[in-house]
Amino acid sequence: MDYFKRTKISKVLVQDSVSLNSEILVLGWVRTVRVSKNVAFIEINDGSCLGNLQAVIGNPNDFPILDNILTGAAVRVVGELVDSPAKGQKYELVVKQLELVGEADQTFPLQKKRHTFEYLREIAHLRPRTNTFGAVNRVRSAISYAVHKFFQERGFYYLHTPIITASDAEGAGELFRVTTLDLDNLPRKENEIDYDEDFFGSEAFLTVSGQLEAEVGALALGDVYTFAPTFRAENSNTSRHASEFWMIEPEMAFCDNQENMDVAVEFLKYLFKYALEECADDMAFFGKWIDKELHQTLEHVIDSEFERMPYNEAITILDKSKEKFEFPVKWGAELQSEHERYLTEKVLKRPVIVYDYPEQSKAFYMRLNDDGKTVAAMDVLVPKIGEIIGGSQREERYDILMERMKQKGINTELYSWYFDLRKYGSAPHSGFGLGFERTLMYITGMGNIRDVLPFPRVPRWAKF
Ligand code: 4AD
Ligand code: MG
Repeated sequence: MDYFKRTKISKVLVQDSVSLNSEILVLGWVRTVRVSKNVAFIEINDGSCLGNLQAVIGNPNDFPILDNILTGAAVRVVGELVDSPAKGQKYELVVKQLELVGEADQTFPLQKKRHTFEYLREIAHLRPRTNTFGAVNRVRSAISYAVHKFFQERGFYYLHTPIITASDAEGAGELFRVTTLDLDNLPRKENEIDYDEDFFGSEAFLTVSGQLEAEVGALALGDVYTFAPTFRAENSNTSRHASEFWMIEPEMAFCDNQENMDVAVEFLKYLFKYALEECADDMAFFGKWIDKELHQTLEHVIDSEFERMPYNEAITILDKSKEKFEFPVKWGAELQSEHERYLTEKVLKRPVIVYDYPEQSKAFYMRLNDDGKTVAAMDVLVPKIGEIIGGSQREERYDILMERMKQKGINTELYSWYFDLRKYGSAPHSGFGLGFERTLMYITGMGNIRDVLPFPRVPRWAKF
């Protein structure tokens, strides 16, 4: 094939590094074809960038293959790159050779008209060939790279934490079970299911977070981060919840909760800046078609301080507000997303970090504050999305951890290794989890998590 000989369209349109009048070979898919008696135009996209390269044929009669080239077809084109007389494009390709690599007939679903995002979810195998989903996928890739770049440049090590696990890291019981037992014929011992017969000899699940293992890493390597798929069997059918999503979890030894917040803020700003600088074309597309205020919003966040507000103060503000909330505002309860959004969208109009949550509302591993009532948790809330980061300083004191886990009814025997971290060289440490898809929603302005995941998994949907 011509794999190494072809020129990617991004090289022509984005990097602008192909000299005029040179002959190039382009491989891609047809977005539109217009054929008249004296001229034919083919818009080609090869996925390397948002833009299409326009191929021009001045003598359509010499290219009978044109009859078979329809929207969606894969083509191979050789031509000369010339200045384009047409408005809105710098170059076009004067075709010398045109080959049909793979045809597409009239049933190809992505004809010129615009489709709803709902419809496109049904054809998730074809939607990457639209402008919007091409851009989403490219930005997703770029931001993944930026995540690694940020941490690697700061001396963090990338840790691979397990996908299959025996522990419920969040203690919220939202686990998918992993088993090879025959569901129609479960082995039983004294009327209970005998997991000793199961593949791992114990119950096993898909992980809800790599945090507990990341703590192992931090207390050996100093600074680590994970970036991995995470699974939650939470039956929330919202635009911000997925059953399978990616999370980035840095974990830092000798770091307290305020320092943890500093890292979180620097990290978020870095990602937003990276998107604006390195994905300019795709970001311009989102700014034009998805959210007109996108650039303004991101630039504002990059330039502004994040408000830091203790939970107590957040409750006071919510309590005094005239807003009608579905869930009552009550000290002790976790903030609901309507409360979070009210704070960040209506009160502050910018991101806010709420910290020091009531002990009973948060996970067992968070460090108990001196007041005995709150824990050193911190959630970063942003307009439109609500919680984007959840993190905390971890309880590094053996006895206090033991007592809290027992209070919460957790079987501490399963966590003996976790206690060892508190027994041998325990040190204050902190970390957080950033929801990768929520970050992408914020960066692109896309309103539904199903549209920033290439193949979303949500309740009652695991197609493709
Ligand atoms: O607040 P969460 O549950 O925190 C943890 O899992 C901690 N172990 C993180 C840590 O301290 N290392 O989840 C962290 C983030 C949320 O703020 C949210 O952005 C995202 O993960 N998230 C989801 N994203 C999509 N779909 C879901 N169902 C999500 N649940 C959480
Ligand atoms: Mg949370």
